[in-house]
Amino acid sequence: LLTYVILCQVLGASGDLAKKKTYPALFGIFRNGFLPEGTRIIGYARTQLDLANFHERITGHMKTPNDEIKKQLSDFLKLCTYVSGQYDKDEDYQRLNKAVEKVESLNEHEKKNRVFYMALPPSVFIPVAKGLKKNVYSTKGINRLIVEKPFGMDLDSSRELGKALAPLWKEEETYRIDHYLGKEMVKNLLIIRFANVFFGAIWNRQSIANVQITFKEKIGTEGRGGYFDEFGIIRDVMQNHLLQMLSIAAMERPVSLSAEDVRDEKVRVLRCIPPVKLEDTLLGQYTKSEDNSKPGYLEDKTVPAGSTCPTFAACTLWINNDRWEGVPFILKCGKALNEQKAEIRVQFQDVPGSIFKNASRNELVIRVQPNEAVYMKMTNKLPGLSMDTVISELDLTYNRRFSDLKIPDAYESLILDVLKGDHSNFVRDDELDAAWKIFTPILHKIDNEKIEPQPYAYGTRGPPGVEEFVSKYGFKRDTQEYNWPERQC
Ligand code: BG6
Repeated sequence: LLTYVILCQVLGASGDLAKKKTYPALFGIFRNGFLPEGTRIIGYARTQLDLANFHERITGHMKTPNDEIKKQLSDFLKLCTYVSGQYDKDEDYQRLNKAVEKVESLNEHEKKNRVFYMALPPSVFIPVAKGLKKNVYSTKGINRLIVEKPFGMDLDSSRELGKALAPLWKEEETYRIDHYLGKEMVKNLLIIRFANVFFGAIWNRQSIANVQITFKEKIGTEGRGGYFDEFGIIRDVMQNHLLQMLSIAAMERPVSLSAEDVRDEKVRVLRCIPPVKLEDTLLGQYTKSEDNSKPGYLEDKTVPAGSTCPTFAACTLWINNDRWEGVPFILKCGKALNEQKAEIRVQFQDVPGSIFKNASRNELVIRVQPNEAVYMKMTNKLPGLSMDTVISELDLTYNRRFSDLKIPDAYESLILDVLKGDHSNFVRDDELDAAWKIFTPILHKIDNEKIEPQPYAYGTRGPPGVEEFVSKYGFKRDTQEYNWPERQC
């Protein structure tokens, strides 16, 4: 028997997560028949709401294209109730506990397992973890605590959070979510690397010239400017999502697929990365769009006047080990850019002593989203009578090859892992520590010295210096015009 308690703000920016991700993911799990029999879901937040109002809020992002799904949604909502209370009052948590016991009493099962999902601002993180442990912790079953980022602001604050949390919640009870680890293509990375002999042989500094990990979003910080300004793009996506992708792309082969073996290797490679230097960093902040239709970052009323918070960052990381020494790993991320995509681009070395003039480099692209794909850019003979070359690709586009399979949402997959007790795709405490060590010095420099970001117009490719930045690390553009023929089904 399982009770799933979701603690979130139901109003404001942090309420978005529950509405956009957590509840829709739970509904997805329910529809696919994976929610354990007897599960109940209780929302907890400060806002007073009646049940109908609460249901209305959490269903705003759920699609019900036909009657069957409408019926499933109405069945799902029967499992979802709501309790309102403060985050620092024992008596409110005791009321929550009563509500949990009440739903548990409907079922005779002996085990009373509870999963707590904390999607909360960092300011209330510790009082809530304490309140839950003291008042709502199950004494008759398993307890699991899911924690959403931000896990601190830097190494010290992250360690402080860890220290405050450790006496309350054991590491094996804690699941730190980085939802990029639930994405299909990020999970595929491990298989691409370690289940294909030809990649195994070339995955090193002898064959690879550089690796770029890119995250681009078309929208700005609309509606989240206040939250975003405290953190900036490096804390928002680079220190977590991009670094997670890097660690899987660069780690050694784990001894097995067990959670601890995989995480051991991720930590090991992160520990080989020295802190990012300012000279390996390019920062940007968006201004209004060229046609004036979209506002600049500083025009957002929730953003403090004159803020130098970066909305774009490119940082080059170096891995000091025998596999990767000298290979730049270029992480790039930004908001309000020309397109939305996340990808890992591995660029191979030039063909040594090539007999073909101007041949482009091979590239392996792992397209995380949208339109998941893995493709390898390769040089071929241009069909015809000449010996001219042309770039084409070996292409595995998921929506063509696996057209009858649905790719699960990252949150669906991760919540299911929590229910199964599988930690592989969650961030371990020492992993978090290693990640913060890489970024804390540069973050302090940016915050304290108010380093001026380069402006770029909303909807463009980023600050003007990006092209020069990537070529400084040896990234070579194709010698011929090439566009991946993105196929949408
Ligand atoms: C979140 C960031 O962690 O990830 C957001 O806080 C970002 O700023 C989001 O938009 C991106 O996630 P996805 O799954 O839409 O790529």
